Amino acid sequence: MEQQLKELRESAVIELAKADSLDMLNDLRVKYLGKKGSLTSILRGMGALSAEERPRIGQIVNEIRAELEGVIEAKGTELKEAELTKRLASERIDVTLPGRQPSEGHRHPLTLTLERIKEIFMQLGFTVAEGPEVEQDYYNFELLNLPKDHPARDMQDSFYITEEILLRTHTSPIQARTMQAANPNDPVKIIAPGKVYRRDYDATHSPMFTQVEGLLIDKNISFADLKGTLELFIHQMFGDNVGVRFRPSFFPFTEPSAEVDISCVICGGKGCRVCKGTGWLEILGSGMVHPNVLKMNNFDPEKVSGFAFGMGVERIAMLLYGIDDLRLFYDNDLRFLRQF
Ligand code: PHE
Repeated sequence: MEQQLKELRESAVIELAKADSLDMLNDLRVKYLGKKGSLTSILRGMGALSAEERPRIGQIVNEIRAELEGVIEAKGTELKEAELTKRLASERIDVTLPGRQPSEGHRHPLTLTLERIKEIFMQLGFTVAEGPEVEQDYYNFELLNLPKDHPARDMQDSFYITEEILLRTHTSPIQARTMQAANPNDPVKIIAPGKVYRRDYDATHSPMFTQVEGLLIDKNISFADLKGTLELFIHQMFGDNVGVRFRPSFFPFTEPSAEVDISCVICGGKGCRVCKGTGWLEILGSGMVHPNVLKMNNFDPEKVSGFAFGMGVERIAMLLYGIDDLRLFYDNDLRFLRQF
């Protein structure tokens, strides 16, 4: 048995020396030291030995095991190092190669436009108010001097949820909501941006679009304040050279009312396809808050007065950026959006 062990040790040492990969080394470890390996099988035969021989042989087996384990470990380290050196020699990493850029998003043209509008009015001391898009008929129409059978309701055909609840057709209900929540002895000075809904769909109308409402109430507010504020806004938005025109109009919640035009930003006022030859483009509706609206919303028209306006953000963005189809804003086409 001693002879057997000696031979096993020798052949193991020779084979291990020849191992040239970690896989091969592992196979050899299993072959000699594994549960079914050669050394273990010899150990099993020890039952046949005499009591005196057993400890001696046992010691030899342990020595061989320890020796082989040492050889395997040393060989393993050597092979790992060799593999690493080989990889470092063959693999080339160009550290100067530019990294892969994650594509960066940016704000939507409508958001950009809205932010500019807000910035201008906030400089003038207006604060931003908001209201629900699913609105009550009461706020959307009634409190704005538009009772149930008022013909002006036809201009704003909407999406009804029930007879009393609809998708708001304009941001004007925020006028009513703000007045209702305010102290009627304090001034009111807000703008209210948000989505509104109407039954319309073509190149310049979408069933969902964006408006910014404005409302200012205080003592001695006159049409001159309305004019001055809107002219200042338009000049900051479109430049000082843009002409501004107030045209008499009608809204049930303002009296007098005016539609505001700017000189055509495309042709400079000479007349073109965009302004339909008139040289002017309509951008918003406005007027002095109707005494009925003040009264219905707890303000005293004998003591205070105010002005209000409402503008279409898509319209303004189209003029600002020269966009000819409003539907482009909602198509999510990156070829369009990347231009802003
Ligand atoms: N709410 C009106 C519209 O959507 C615009 C408007 C607002 C007009 C405030 C006058 C005063 O057509």
